[in-house]
Amino acid sequence: MFKKEVYTDRRNKLRGEIGSGIALFLGNVEAPFNYLANTYHFRQDSHFLYFFGLQNPGFAGVIDFDNGKDYIFGNDFDIDDIIWMGVQPKVTDLAAKAGVENTAPYADLAKLLANAKYEGRQIHYLPPYRGETTIEFSALLGISNADVKPGASVELIKGVVKLKEIKSEEEIAEIEKAVDIAYEMHTTAMKMAIPGIVEQEIAGTIEGISLALGGPVSFPIILSQNGQTLHNHYHGNVLKVGRMMVTDGGAETRECYSSDITRTVPVGGKFNERQAEIYQIVLDANMGAIEAIKPGIKYREVHFLVARIIVDGLKKAGLMKGDTNAAVDAGAHTLFMPHGLGHMMGMDVHDMESLGENYVGYDENTQRATEFGTAYLRLGKELKPGFVLTVEPGIYFIPDLIDQFWNEGKYLHFINYDKVETYKDFGGIRIEDDILVTETGYRVLGKPIPKTIEEVETLMAEGR
Ligand code: GLY
Ligand code: MN
Ligand code: MN
Repeated sequence: MFKKEVYTDRRNKLRGEIGSGIALFLGNVEAPFNYLANTYHFRQDSHFLYFFGLQNPGFAGVIDFDNGKDYIFGNDFDIDDIIWMGVQPKVTDLAAKAGVENTAPYADLAKLLANAKYEGRQIHYLPPYRGETTIEFSALLGISNADVKPGASVELIKGVVKLKEIKSEEEIAEIEKAVDIAYEMHTTAMKMAIPGIVEQEIAGTIEGISLALGGPVSFPIILSQNGQTLHNHYHGNVLKVGRMMVTDGGAETRECYSSDITRTVPVGGKFNERQAEIYQIVLDANMGAIEAIKPGIKYREVHFLVARIIVDGLKKAGLMKGDTNAAVDAGAHTLFMPHGLGHMMGMDVHDMESLGENYVGYDENTQRATEFGTAYLRLGKELKPGFVLTVEPGIYFIPDLIDQFWNEGKYLHFINYDKVETYKDFGGIRIEDDILVTETGYRVLGKPIPKTIEEVETLMAEGR
């Protein structure tokens, strides 16, 4: 937990964003795995955690914008719990660590809300993403489950995004810790990528590294020699020479800040000519994008810069043809990179995605595109110092997409389908880094993880 002034300051800043009423933040409750007492790892709600700092299940926080008070509602443990869990701090002591003086048993929350409702005050809350939270909002606010999400406060969503999108020094330090854990995960995976090993063994090993050095992984590990499937969670393949292993994995720190890193390596440790050629294009795109990052540029522009680098590279490789800008304007690059360049990152690996991607990645000056591929760009708006985001270009050979585009006669002026057809056994490549937008440009966060061809081959040789 950070020092209490951090949380007091965050709540006071939110007061500057919201006119009146109260904000209700429900923390998460334990989630059963297969029966009530056997739970998943407890993960606090990121927004409750941001404003109240406590990682205890079953708590709620209230910020009153009219009287200036903050409250934490939660129950002290009794002797039955203490027998199993040991002595636990009291709610008042926990709340003090977050700079909150007003505490009450959880049951009193309903009274405070009933009062606020009676007085006609607005009760702001954020859209829930768990069923339990939806049910709890429904019960507390006296509205149907179906009305909970639509009733979320847009004013609060916008206020929270405005605060949380700018990372403070202590948050950046946490994210760097998470990237440093990812360094250990990825360098281990690279060394283990030898022919004959089952993907599961590598995925399990690196998940263990995350747990050993910080917390759980920040999202289910994507690790596959079938990297053409963008979010491939199947880990049952036996690695074969000639395939590229995509590993997209990150860790959470104890404070729940995340990393999100992707590396792609040739099984066996040596790039063949075809792999090296495509890999170098993705690497050029990754580094070209990073170098373009600075305050004031729209991330959408960086996305299209990457699209042009990819088209230029694929033209040299004989897979595309024609005018680069025309190809990108037409969307021909989306055959190879059908996803966006990146997203905001923080406590959530896709930061604040539960609030609505468009509130986080877009604004009144930048609207989300609707075309295939570009519509998946999660972050399009102008960058500001303090943003932390991912840069994750890729090139994929997705057999079904190739067939579909070809059958539809799409982009015939820009794509050499005859040659692309011969790459259907290639797989995919993605290279992802986590970047801080600084006052003057950018900083790549964490210990650099090998990514040039030479660096990757040198590191992989250590595993043989
Ligand atoms: N880890 C999923 C992503 O890169 O966004
Ligand atoms: Mn990723
Ligand atoms: Mn990502």
